[in-house]
Amino acid sequence: MAHEEVGMIFGDVGLGQFQISLSHPIERGDYLTVDDEANGRVLCQLDDLRRTSDLNLERADEIGRGEVSTPIHERLLGVARIIGFRDGQGLVKLPTIPFRPGAKVYRAEEPLIAEVLGLKHRGNTGAYLGLLRNHNLKVELDINQLVQRHVSVLAKTGGGKSYLLGVLIEELLRHKVTCVIIDPHGEYGSLRLAAEKNGVHARFGVESQGFARQVQEFSPDVQLNPSAKPLTFSLRHVEPRDLLVFMGLTNVKSFLAPLKELVESVAAGNPEYSVKDLVRAAEHGEGTVAETLHERLEYLEQTKILGAQGTSLNDLVEKGVATLINLRGVAPDVQELVVARIASTLFDNRKKNKIPPLFLVIEEAHNYAPQQGTATCSRVLKNIASEGRKFGLGLCVVTQRAARIDKTVLSQCNTQLILQVTNPLDLKAIAQSIEGLTAGMTEMIQSLPVGVALVTGGGYHTPLFCEVRPRATRHGGESVRIVDN
Ligand SMILES: Nc1ncnc2c1ncn2[C@@H]1O[C@H](COP(=O)(O)OP(=O)(O)O)[C@@H](O)[C@H]1O
Ligand SMILES: [Mg+2]
Repeated sequence: MAHEEVGMIFGDVGLGQFQISLSHPIERGDYLTVDDEANGRVLCQLDDLRRTSDLNLERADEIGRGEVSTPIHERLLGVARIIGFRDGQGLVKLPTIPFRPGAKVYRAEEPLIAEVLGLKHRGNTGAYLGLLRNHNLKVELDINQLVQRHVSVLAKTGGGKSYLLGVLIEELLRHKVTCVIIDPHGEYGSLRLAAEKNGVHARFGVESQGFARQVQEFSPDVQLNPSAKPLTFSLRHVEPRDLLVFMGLTNVKSFLAPLKELVESVAAGNPEYSVKDLVRAAEHGEGTVAETLHERLEYLEQTKILGAQGTSLNDLVEKGVATLINLRGVAPDVQELVVARIASTLFDNRKKNKIPPLFLVIEEAHNYAPQQGTATCSRVLKNIASEGRKFGLGLCVVTQRAARIDKTVLSQCNTQLILQVTNPLDLKAIAQSIEGLTAGMTEMIQSLPVGVALVTGGGYHTPLFCEVRPRATRHGGESVRIVDN
């Protein structure tokens, strides 16, 4: 590629940004270079574009009325931010003296972009996410950073979060990283199946491939989710208050005391009691409270979520395997209990080094760690966000409501993968939780096409736009068609 000139620096020049009078149309986000006397070629990026003209309102009116037809002089002006250059030791530096007004601005060439951004093949530690937007340069995330320093995936509904996460899980499985995925819609089972190949796969250099041997699935409801193994919890380890949630009873005031009494009397006779024993003991109770308890315990017995023994941790976590916790069809408050129990069990056992380091993915995380949430689930996830890294438990939160997820959790994520976001409150929450996001980037997030992500962290010192690679496996989150065409 020739060294293509696109314009000239003018006006006041800062150390972080400068203005360009553009002679060629370029796009916001394009990479540029300026030759600096002291430091050589410096990488910059177009952050904003503006067309100015000498057409004032008065003249516009005159032209509108057909009174004059003088030519309009217009200019294309840009604002660029300086990304920097690599010094002798390979560190990214910013010039300490502003560029000269009048200096020429060129379109950046790919080798320089790759060098300064740090786009390189990371071998065993790289997760191939896609290509740098408008370039043929691979964006690989540092897997150690992902797992050690947490990840958030943020976008509006239909923005491509689950698709992107699928890409990430494929990469982790290729590198034999253990994953546990909270899957509220049951959409990750398709990681077992190879995608149908199309032209896009060739462009990105992706082979279609299924991961059937590295995916296992558990669900509290195996009738609705027959591909899953049953997920059960040990009845004896469930507090009566949580038992009410599993039974679908919200009126704690009326039911907690009688339930406690019932459990205690059964446990006194048989410490290995089952739900069936509770049902039997509740059979002869009189009055509406007792009758409701009996009826809800029968329901609980049918769900089979509580057994004498819970699903063993060794079954749940297997090295190099992605375990899906499919919660499709499970009531929201029961989901919350399940997530709290699984997350805290994983955390406790990571601390004791009883299970391999792992990546815990929470889809629809605003439901499990809401802002100002006080439920156990929120507490556990906040703990993992703040301390998980010390114990090799990486957290990945996925949400369409950045404004509604707990801020501690969000701010602990050092890698952010952001797709299109339009809600102003969510944008504000994102801007507040990410360093180095320019006003121009925040604007660009609002109009990102599906499949383009803004990546911050992940081993990169500056945010970059990435065209997400196609899936090697099938995507399970296709929207339901209401009407066929
Ligand atoms: N990188 C991509 N390439 C191609 N199609 C995509 C990409 N990302 C998302 N899609 C499509 O967009 C739709 C919504 O994506 P999805 O990941 O399910 O959204 P979200 O989880 O954010 O609601 C899906 O039908 C998917 O096929
Ligand atoms: Mg989704």
